[in-house]
Amino acid sequence: MEKYQVRDLSLAPSGHRKIQWVRDNMPLLRGLEDEFIKTKPFEGIKISLSVHLEAKTAYLCLVLAAGGADMSVTGSNVLSTQDDVAAALADSGLKVYAYHGATQKEYDRHIEMCLSHKPNIIIDDGADLVTFLHDKRPDLMEEVWGGCEETTTGVIRLKAMEREGILKFPMVAVNDADCKHLFDNRYGTGQSTWDSIMRNTNLIVAAKKVVVVGYGWCSRGIAMRAAALGAQVIVTEIDPVKAIEAKMDGFSVMPMAKAAHFGDIFVTATGCCKTITTQHMMSMKDGVILANAGHFNCEIDMAALETFAEDKKERRNNVMGYKLPNGRWINVIGEGRLVNIDGHPAEIMDMSFAVQAMSAAYIRDNYKNLENKVIDVSSEIDDVIARRKLEAWGIQIDSLTEEQQAYLNSWQI
Ligand code: NAI
Repeated sequence: MEKYQVRDLSLAPSGHRKIQWVRDNMPLLRGLEDEFIKTKPFEGIKISLSVHLEAKTAYLCLVLAAGGADMSVTGSNVLSTQDDVAAALADSGLKVYAYHGATQKEYDRHIEMCLSHKPNIIIDDGADLVTFLHDKRPDLMEEVWGGCEETTTGVIRLKAMEREGILKFPMVAVNDADCKHLFDNRYGTGQSTWDSIMRNTNLIVAAKKVVVVGYGWCSRGIAMRAAALGAQVIVTEIDPVKAIEAKMDGFSVMPMAKAAHFGDIFVTATGCCKTITTQHMMSMKDGVILANAGHFNCEIDMAALETFAEDKKERRNNVMGYKLPNGRWINVIGEGRLVNIDGHPAEIMDMSFAVQAMSAAYIRDNYKNLENKVIDVSSEIDDVIARRKLEAWGIQIDSLTEEQQAYLNSWQI
């Protein structure tokens, strides 16, 4: 089979430059790379990886390859794939199958090609590799020991597979590690979502009413950063506890049917479908902006909007205006797909991908004793990564004295 399918190999120098920049800003991965070069933990091991194919992911691939892994790589979202980065990986000798803007058919073909080297370990983002193996090519699953899942939506899909008793190998819920979701989902999504909305619209956030749909890890970060930019934030939720949290954090809370009347900018990040429907859109003001930061493009009901709208026109690059039957226009960024496709800051992904690399090693060491379930990242991995991150920042913390330890372990005052 072809060793790579990328748009244009001559783009590699630009990809290498991007990878070098993130490498300079990812000290945890650099540390792992140094270790892996010496210990070769993945020698002879085949890894298939599907994660947003931009520079940080490429560096993770190179770190795993430095540890001896035979890497086969694709992207988890055709719009986040960067062709120069894909070219740089191919130029570095890795198997790479990904195009920016691939059709669904091409995307499926790339997933199949990525899996065709019969991996031992899967690294997935949204569970597309795992579901493809189970649904379409179980014959490529024979040598799989297990894998790691990067995001909330992927973990939700894998847990559904586990409940139905069809998951055929253990999957580590990387997303659920403290060193992942506490920082990546909250601060990463919080920053990169607003970075993307501001670049795409070139409008001010201050003084706007921003409706944040959900108050989970991502949406909390999005709400926090909107407030910091000077917006008035309204949160919609279905979980009463999260709704109280949003209220106590100082935000207005109301159902979407009401919030739809007030918002200037709407941002979804729930992992749920149809959180903004055409009915909600009919209540919105003329000229509002809609963006989605959840994994799939069903959070804003784009399928319904496409048939419901009376007219549509491109307003800016990546911003589509839709004319509703009431004559008002609404503007959707990036087809309602994940808005922050340029990804999180490198320092954030440093932690997430350190969890990925160490969890892949965990699978290698433990797969024989693991059940075919979604499993938690071990607390030792979280602890090591947190300590290394602090060390990289030059921050020291206290540790318990023997007396304090004894006190905390005793029931006597
Ligand atoms: P989470 O589970 O922490 O939060 C989701 C929240 O949405 C929950 O509080 C839930 O009650 C709420 N919710 C669910 N349905 C709702 C509805 N119909 N209306 C209002 N609220 C609703 O999940 P997390 O980690 O925040 O992830 C959310 C989505 O973002 C997932 O699809 C995940 O894969 C994706 N994600 C995106 C990232 C990005 O860079 N854009 C980064 C990490 C995750």
